[in-house]
Formats: sequence, structure tokens, C-alpha cells
Amino acid sequence: MITKVIKINPSEITKKDIEILEEVGKSIREGEVVAFPTETVYGLGANACDDKAVRKIFELKGRPSDNPLIVHLSSKSDIEKFAIVSNDIEKLIISNLMPGPITIILKKKPIISNITTANLDTVGIRIPYNPIAQKLIELAKVPVCAPSANISGKPSATDPTTVIEEFSGKIPFIIDGGRTHIGIESTVVMVKEYPSKFSILILRPGFITKEDIEDLLSSTKIQKEVEVIYAEEYSTITPLSPGQKYKHYSPKSHVVIVKNLKNIEKADIVRTFINDKIGILGRPNFIKEVKNILNYIGAKYTVELEWCNYDLIECARNLFFAYRMFDKENVGIILVENLEETGIGYAIMNRVKKSSTYTI
Ligand code: TXA
Ligand code: MG
Repeated sequence: MITKVIKINPSEITKKDIEILEEVGKSIREGEVVAFPTETVYGLGANACDDKAVRKIFELKGRPSDNPLIVHLSSKSDIEKFAIVSNDIEKLIISNLMPGPITIILKKKPIISNITTANLDTVGIRIPYNPIAQKLIELAKVPVCAPSANISGKPSATDPTTVIEEFSGKIPFIIDGGRTHIGIESTVVMVKEYPSKFSILILRPGFITKEDIEDLLSSTKIQKEVEVIYAEEYSTITPLSPGQKYKHYSPKSHVVIVKNLKNIEKADIVRTFINDKIGILGRPNFIKEVKNILNYIGAKYTVELEWCNYDLIECARNLFFAYRMFDKENVGIILVENLEETGIGYAIMNRVKKSSTYTI
């Protein structure tokens, strides 16, 4: 298959772009899979009501069939065509945080394919704010299920080159909207209602933080108590978000989280790769200190990527992009700074931990 790569500037969508997006939307409606940018990561989208089209996504990614896909809509007014909003907390989240980098798990309506939702009775709904994604979904005139546009297990694609490398020749269209702004996937939330309280479970942390949700609640009058908790702190027998049980986001090399710089010198994993290229991902001070230690113990080659200049939002944006760059450099290990797990730092470290093989 020949893949058309279409470049569109998200901050200036022209008439010509709309014509092209109409064509891409039509191909989604007719059962094809296409790649497009969202504000979080690139998505691999298909008609969420079409079993055959959805199966193609699972095949292209090599994704386990028990891991459900998120359904993307262009407008809030479409939500109740595909899902059931059951309580005031769900309403509150939808009206205040969407469109945006958040996915809400709702009761599913039968029109959404069971392949999309991996036979669950719920569906993840997201309304991206990226103008290309919005327009494409609107023009497709169908709900668009879309996982991140990467082979299963690898770091999510946040730039067009990665999508082209992994899916060129396999799908008819890739829309190149440049690097994505947020760089990590949406926050996934699920609301549970009990007689005396609501629990908002964060199934996957993301750009919209626990603190953001708590702030929203504190400025709203609600009849019952509401708690916001991370799903890993909430005990159930089956995982609430099937995706969380799989190894994720992994570059080719070992990711080593550095909690204590003093451990670098004696760590076996560092010794093993001492004659290979060693990647360093961190803020400027971390890079400086690790380089000194590596020089001292005789490492010959290092590849340093400045994660950000202290701004955690930039760290989120650069994480997967940096992993992909380290892959290109063929490093043996990547020494990653251990960021503080507050605000978006929690979401970033969630990805780093899932991708890591060692913590020192
Ligand atoms: O930012 C994002 O969310 C990106 C862009 C493309 O929108 N999409 C994305 O999709 O990250 P994916 O498939 O890589 O991750 C979806 C996550 C998985 O962890 C999956 O298990 C969970 O959402 N999920 C989807 N539907 C669910 C459901 N009904 N119940 C519980 N978890 C669900
Ligand atoms: Mg993914």
C-alpha cells in the first residue's frame, strides 16, 4: 500500500487542508486506518463501530485483543450517542475538562463495536483539542477509536517521523502535524458512585493531574463526599484498566532510574555497559553530575539529552521523543533522573517506571 503523508499546520488549517481531511475522514468512514496527531500523542484511528476496521488496528500494532481502545469524538454533544452519562461527577468532568487531554470511562452503548472495548461494558471517551484531530473526527462523521500510533510496547509516537517509520506502507494516510504539545497520553478516569460518596479513580495519570481534579471539585458544590485516588491504590481483583498490566513505552535499551547518584559507580548494570554508549536523560545538573561519575569510572561514550530546563511540562513533552532518539543512537542503557512525583511529575514517572528494567 502507498501511504500519503500529508503535512498540516495545526494552528493554520487552510481550505485546501479541509478538502484533504474530508478525503481522510471518508477513508475512516469506509473502514481504513489512518494516523493523525492529537495534543497528547499520535493516534492510529478507525471507525469505532466497524469490527473489521477496528481489528486492523489491533493487527497493525500487535496489540493484545483484551486491551480496549479509546473512542474519540469531536463534540460533547455526541457523547450520549455512544455512551451513558450516569451522574453529576461525570457531567462535571465532561463540562470542565473536555475537550482536552483526558479520557472518561462511561457505560457503553451497543453501537460501539465490542472489539473496540475488548468486550467490556464501558467505553473510554475522549475529545481532543488539537484542531487537526477535531476537524478529522468531525469530517469522518463516525466515532474514531484510536490507540497511540506505535507498535505495542514501544514508546508512544509524539512526532511524525516515528509514525512514518512504523506504519508507512501499511495505512493509506499519515497526517503530519509536527511534534505533539503534551507528549504523554491522556489522563484516564472512571467515576464510581457509592451510597455515601463518589470515587474518581485515575486509571492512568496524565497531563490533567489529581490536583487539577481536586481543584475543580473544591470550587463546586456537590451533595456527597468525593475522593480522587490513583487506581493502583484502589484494590480490586481484576485491573480496572487492562492496558496498565502490560509492559509499556520501552525503548530498545535498558532504562535505569537513578534514585541515588552514589549507586552509579558500583551498579552491575552500569559496569556491564561501561564500554558501550551510555545515554543520560535528565535536567542540566543531573547530566553534569552523571557525566563526571561516568568519566571517573572509565565510560568512553555518553549521549546526553537535556530532558528540560527544570520545567516538568517540557519533560513530559520530551520523554518519548528522547527515548526514540536514544534508540537511533543505539545506546546500551539510559540513565534517567528520578523526578519528583507531584503534579505532572507523577504521570511522567509512571511512564518511566513502566519502561524501566532497573532502579539504582
Ligand atoms: O492520549 C491518548 O489517550 C492517546 C491519543 C491517541 O488519544 N491514546 C492512547 O490510547 O493513549 P492507548 O490505546 O494507547 O491507551 C488507552 C488506555 C489503555 O490503558 C486502556 O486499557 C485504557 O485506556 N482503556 C480504554 N478503554 C477502557 C475501558 N473501557 N476501561 C478501562 N480502561 C480503558
Ligand atoms: Mg498506547
